[in-house]
Amino acid sequence: MSANVFRHRVLPAMAGLVFAVLLAGCERPPTTSIQNGFRGTGMEQVNNPRKDAILVAKNQAPAPADAASPDGPKARDVYQNVKVLGHLSVAEFTRHMTSITEWVAPQEGCAYCHNLQNLADDSKYTKVIARRMVEMTQHLNADWKNHVGATGVTCYTCHRGNPVPQQVWYAPPDRKYAENSVMGDLAGQNLASASVGGTSLPFDPFTPYLLEDKPIRVIGDKALKWTGNAANRTTTKQAEHTYALMVHMSNSLGVNCTFCHNTRNFQSWNEAPPQRMTAFHGIRMARDLNVAYLEPLTKSFPAERLGPKGDVAKVNCATCHQGINMPLLGAQMAKNHPELLAVFKEPAMPAGAAAEPVAGEAKPGGEAPAAQRVEAAPK
Ligand code: HEC
Ligand code: HEC
Ligand code: HEC
Ligand code: HEC
Repeated sequence: MSANVFRHRVLPAMAGLVFAVLLAGCERPPTTSIQNGFRGTGMEQVNNPRKDAILVAKNQAPAPADAASPDGPKARDVYQNVKVLGHLSVAEFTRHMTSITEWVAPQEGCAYCHNLQNLADDSKYTKVIARRMVEMTQHLNADWKNHVGATGVTCYTCHRGNPVPQQVWYAPPDRKYAENSVMGDLAGQNLASASVGGTSLPFDPFTPYLLEDKPIRVIGDKALKWTGNAANRTTTKQAEHTYALMVHMSNSLGVNCTFCHNTRNFQSWNEAPPQRMTAFHGIRMARDLNVAYLEPLTKSFPAERLGPKGDVAKVNCATCHQGINMPLLGAQMAKNHPELLAVFKEPAMPAGAAAEPVAGEAKPGGEAPAAQRVEAAPK
């Protein structure tokens, strides 16, 4: 091959190939960007209208069932085994049963949770879980207003017509070394993992932050120095775990980092948009659901529903958000289901007495518990 042919034919062809390979990782145009911070801060959301259209189609809320009359006998007086919804009228109770069937088990129908010979029977595990799920949803709407706001949550927010929500997480199996690889210790990362957007970041950002309460903030206020102190969390290694969580959060909401941060200073709350505060509560809320509701149900699930380490399916940001900053595009489904808005306790009184709504652990009314407010106070 003459030098000329190499220069004029082969080199451009090779360059073209290299470009094609590099561009394969890019997003197909067109993309648009919307400014969400002050001018000049570079705080913009980059969107792709083609992908947005798919997301919009996938995230439509179903129409609410017709309202039911609160009059007539109460469920607790008519049925034999109602523990959380006894204060509803029979009509409201029936509407609730119809709605949860549509939201959670539309294919299977009432029989997914019920022994149809005896609706009061609790022998199906799904009914036992569903009862606790009602309490969990009430707690979400009553006590986590600082996250779920006026949009609120119904079973559909997570389930979307599936008995098992599509976006859940389990603890990954222990894998110290990569299979068929010359790589050494994986250290819980170094694989292209879907949980962290195909990056090589730590592939389980959920256990430390959405189950345990490990510190997420890693930016030190002193110059880094090697102290040999394992308790020093302000290390690059530790930052990788924080970044893994942040990639999950960004992907779940379909946003860039600049949705919550002015990236000139990730640490600063003063320069951050209010959405970051909502996200702060979201982290605590997901942890609360996993610790207080899902984990304690582990024994109620059959083995085939459990993860590789025998743990129950748990919630992360994607469970509700599914690629959108406002789940179901902000459709306010919950307000059509007052039975899911407040925590009720059946009174230990004779049947027929009115149930009083009671506040849960956190203060209702959109206020974070004091401990959270102090921790989050902008510096
Ligand atoms: C996702 C699970 C689930 C589905 C699906 C479901 N139910 Fe239920 N059902 C429950 C739970 C949980 C209770 C108990 C509620 C409580 O303790 O307050 C219950 C209780 C009942 C009761 C009261 C029985 C008694 O005597 O104690 C009736 C009646 C009932 N359901 C009817 C239906 C009908 C009709 C359908 C189908 C349209 C249906 N349910 C679908 C979970 C479900
Ligand atoms: C915050 C998200 C979330 C909400 C809201 C929610 N669920 Fe669930 N639900 C889950 C998760 C996570 C599981 C565990 C998945 C599994 O079954 O392995 C689950 C499991 C279940 C199961 C067991 C399904 C099976 O086949 O194993 C039933 C039944 C159920 N939920 C009913 C309900 C009902 C009824 C409501 C509304 C009153 C509701 N859920 C609200 C997240 C949610
Ligand atoms: C939906 C909002 C949201 C998005 C999107 C987001 N973050 Fe965060 N970020 C937060 C919150 C909230 C905290 C503080 C968490 C806490 O203290 O519990 C935080 C903390 C951090 C920290 C630690 C700051 C410190 O004080 O040490 C870094 C670094 C960070 N984020 C980087 C990123 C990167 C990189 C991205 C994009 C991949 C990103 N974030 C996307 C909300 C967000
Ligand atoms: C139980 C369902 C659920 C889970 C789990 C959840 N969110 Fe949300 N989130 C919502 C709802 C509902 C809203 C709408 C709130 C409103 O109307 O103001 C919302 C709103 C937000 C917003 C504000 C968006 C905006 O445009 O103003 C941010 C940011 C956010 N969530 C971050 C997160 C993060 C981060 C996680 C995981 C750590 C998370 N969420 C987990 C239900 C959820």
